[in-house]
Amino acid sequence: MILKLCVPGLMILFLLCSVATAMDQSAADSKPGCRDKCGNVSVPYPFGIDKSSCAENQYLFLNCSQSDGHGPEKLWFYNIPVLNISVLEGLMVVSLFTAYDCYNQSGANVNETSFSIGLGQGPYMFSDTLNMFTAIGCDTSGYVGKNEGTYGAACITSCDEMVSLADNSSCSGSGCCQTSIPQGLKSLYILSSSMNNHRNVSDFNPCGYAFLADKRTFKASDWQLSGLPDGNASDAVIEWVVETKSCEKAGMNTSSYACRNNTNCNYSKNGQGYRCSCKDGFTGNPYLLPGCQDIDECADRQRYPCKGKCKNTPGNYTCSCPLGMRGDGKTGCQGFGIATIASVTGGTISLVIIGVLLYIVLRKLRKDKNFRENGGMVLKHQRVRIFGEAELAKATENYNDHKKLGEGGFGCVYKGVLPDNTQLAVKKFKGVDRAQMNEEFQHEIGMVLQVNHKNVVKLLGLCLQTKVPLLVYEFISNGTLFHHIHDKKSQVLRTWTDRLRVAAETALALEYLHSLANPPMIHGDVKTVNILLDEDGTAKMADFGASVLISPGQTDIATKIQGTFG
Ligand SMILES: *[C@@H]1O[C@H](CO)[C@@H](O)[C@H](O)[C@H]1NC(C)=O
Ligand SMILES: *[C@@H]1O[C@H](CO)[C@@H](O)[C@H](O)[C@H]1NC(C)=O
Ligand SMILES: *[C@@H]1O[C@H](CO)[C@@H](O)[C@H](O)[C@H]1NC(C)=O
Ligand SMILES: *[C@@H]1O[C@H](CO)[C@@H](O)[C@H](O)[C@H]1NC(C)=O
Ligand SMILES: *[C@@H]1O[C@H](CO)[C@@H](O)[C@H](O)[C@H]1NC(C)=O
Ligand SMILES: *[C@@H]1O[C@H](CO)[C@@H](O)[C@H](O)[C@H]1NC(C)=O
Ligand SMILES: *[C@@H]1O[C@H](CO)[C@@H](O)[C@H](O)[C@H]1NC(C)=O
Ligand SMILES: *[C@@H]1O[C@H](CO)[C@@H](O)[C@H](O)[C@H]1NC(C)=O
Ligand SMILES: *[C@@H]1O[C@H](CO)[C@@H](O)[C@H](O)[C@H]1NC(C)=O
Ligand SMILES: *[C@@H]1O[C@H](CO)[C@@H](O)[C@H](O)[C@H]1NC(C)=O
Ligand SMILES: *[C@@H]1O[C@H](CO)[C@@H](O)[C@H](O)[C@H]1NC(C)=O
Ligand SMILES: *[C@@H]1O[C@H](CO)[C@@H](O)[C@H](O)[C@H]1NC(C)=O
Repeated sequence: MILKLCVPGLMILFLLCSVATAMDQSAADSKPGCRDKCGNVSVPYPFGIDKSSCAENQYLFLNCSQSDGHGPEKLWFYNIPVLNISVLEGLMVVSLFTAYDCYNQSGANVNETSFSIGLGQGPYMFSDTLNMFTAIGCDTSGYVGKNEGTYGAACITSCDEMVSLADNSSCSGSGCCQTSIPQGLKSLYILSSSMNNHRNVSDFNPCGYAFLADKRTFKASDWQLSGLPDGNASDAVIEWVVETKSCEKAGMNTSSYACRNNTNCNYSKNGQGYRCSCKDGFTGNPYLLPGCQDIDECADRQRYPCKGKCKNTPGNYTCSCPLGMRGDGKTGCQGFGIATIASVTGGTISLVIIGVLLYIVLRKLRKDKNFRENGGMVLKHQRVRIFGEAELAKATENYNDHKKLGEGGFGCVYKGVLPDNTQLAVKKFKGVDRAQMNEEFQHEIGMVLQVNHKNVVKLLGLCLQTKVPLLVYEFISNGTLFHHIHDKKSQVLRTWTDRLRVAAETALALEYLHSLANPPMIHGDVKTVNILLDEDGTAKMADFGASVLISPGQTDIATKIQGTFG
């Protein structure tokens, strides 16, 4: 509610302020106590009306009066109506009559007016850059010069049929011609004449015209070839200077020098005098006290772009990029500012920290989950060594290939060494059916762990943190019985005594499992590859109970414990 009430209020305030500034600005264009407008034409200082003190000098004092004592007020320069005065460009736009000549059907000259004008002793002259001498007609020659009899320029136009004049600024094709005027003209004589007195064209073009035209606003289509003269006028541009002196000379007499504070003095060769202009970065009327005012560029980012930090200085402004950024700030800042770097780095660091924390937590959760799913809670209560995932990875040098002892359908066995130099065989399964990981099965592993016989490879522990449990056995250094049987050079089986001993030790292990263990177990996969020999040649039965961990799909190896419970 408050907002709703405030917004219109603010807008009204804003409007009032805008009006006030606009009034300030226009008020600043004339001396205090002087009118700055005549009719609808602005009269900026150094020009003045009403009182001679309102103008910088006598030549710039203009008349403001009604034409013929009635109608709206008009601004007059002698008897020429003034349409516009530009202080910035030193220009004055006036309305000039045209010269014309008209003929009847038989070629007799009906009426004719040449045009003559003088700009007086004042600091005025016709602009040679903005005025174009223009002639319109189908049998017309236009002449322009300083005074009667001396012509500075001419142009001829002809046509043999009715044409409509181009509606753009240029005088193209037939019916219209243009030429530039001599430089520095302070008086003007314009004449329109005909070579053949419009004899063949008077049907559609009885008259010819010649005049000066402001080429910024001239439109040929404003004119009709069939038209008769009736006070036709055209805009022309007059250049002015404030004083016919050089800047150096003018600057020496400070009481008459027209340029105020913060201005440039511009000498016009054309007018043989000087004008004043505000220095870059300043604005206002350069002829009025106290002079040109500093522009607050920072208040107008549209015109004075600044992407960075803007600071107004006299006549200029600085735009600095935020700390750490490159560029001039006006066209833009490149790179990361310290603030940005700080926030980005801060953000990144926090993200990384959060990520790491999340990772650790998730890893822990995952490990815990694996641990639980792999029966850790049951096994924890048994005398089993639970190995850490990292511990085994380190012991096997991250399951390095050169640590591989053997490979089968079940997975791989790696040799590992603990920091206390205990040697291990780590059995890593390729994959396992999670359905098998039921409590009963965990119970089995628990029993296998309880097996303690000198001819059975001892299961030292497990790692349950991985997705597939790792089994850790004691390391048997002398390889498999299979290897020794087939190795002719084997010393272990050299004598019959040794062979018998190995056979007996294997039988002892089986007897223990089948009869003495409680509950009894059946190996189910007795073969020479599964009988290992240690450094003394003692046989050790391997790969029994754990073989059930193999996925059911892996039928190629018969390693399933069968009938464990009897
Ligand atoms: C100025 O006033 C005159 C009449 O006095 C009018 O013809 C002309 O269009 C006006 N110009 C502007 C720019 O308002
Ligand atoms: C202003 O008008 C007066 C009389 O109407 C005339 O004497 C004077 O020359 C004019 N001045 C200008 C600058 O046109
Ligand atoms: C006077 O000329 C300026 C440009 O020089 C233009 O912006 C302004 O509209 C003109 N005023 C009139 C009344 O023609
Ligand atoms: C043209 O003007 C002359 C002189 O005034 C006259 O003798 C002649 O008849 C006029 N011709 C036409 C066609 O009006
Ligand atoms: C010029 O002559 C034409 C044709 O006779 C006439 O219509 C026009 O009013 C005359 N113009 C002047 C300013 O005398
Ligand atoms: C002006 O218009 C005419 C046709 O109306 C065209 O031929 C000519 O190129 C135009 N000139 C310019 C400068 O646009
Ligand atoms: C005017 O027309 C006549 C006959 O129609 C012709 O002989 C003459 O050459 C034309 N003059 C011009 C300047 O075109
Ligand atoms: C001159 O002005 C009169 C009156 O506005 C108009 O009828 C005539 O067509 C104009 N002349 C030209 C050549 O446009
Ligand atoms: C300086 O200008 C004032 C006012 O225009 C004039 O009275 C004075 O004579 C000038 N002084 C010189 C040295 O030209
Ligand atoms: C002229 O402008 C300068 C810079 O803006 C300022 O320091 C100085 O006081 C001004 N002088 C006068 C007389 O206003
Ligand atoms: C005036 O002179 C200054 C410096 O000499 C220049 O920068 C400026 O463009 C000139 N202004 C005009 C309107 O010629
Ligand atoms: C403003 O400052 C910039 C750089 O500091 C410079 O290039 C420019 O010319 C200055 N402009 C003015 C008007 O002094």
